[in-house]
Amino acid sequence: MAMDGVTVNGEEEASGRYIVVKALEDGVVIMGLTRGKDTRSHHSERLDAGEVLVAQFTELTAAIKIRGKAEIMTDVGKVASGL
Ligand code: TRP
Repeated sequence: MAMDGVTVNGEEEASGRYIVVKALEDGVVIMGLTRGKDTRSHHSERLDAGEVLVAQFTELTAAIKIRGKAEIMTDVGKVASGL
C-alpha cells in the first residue's frame, strides 16, 4: 500500500486511509487543503443533511477542513464538528 501522499510512477497516489463525513445539517462544507509549505483550499464540497462523503488523503491533499455540523470518522476515531 502506498504511503500517505507519495507519488508513484509520476502519478498522484491516494493513501489507503479513508475519512468518512456525514452531514448533520444542510450546507456542510468540506475543504481539501494542499500539502507542502503553502496551505490553501484547493477543493470544496457542500453536503446536505444525511449526505455522506468518503474521501482519501493524497499527494495534493494533506488536511481537510469541515465547516458545519457533521460526524467524522477516521482511523484515529470518531469526532463531531459544528455546534
Ligand atoms: N500545507 C500543510 C502541510 O502540508 C497542510 C496541513 C497539514 C495543515 N496538516 C495541517 C494545515 C494541519 C493546518 C493544520 O503541512
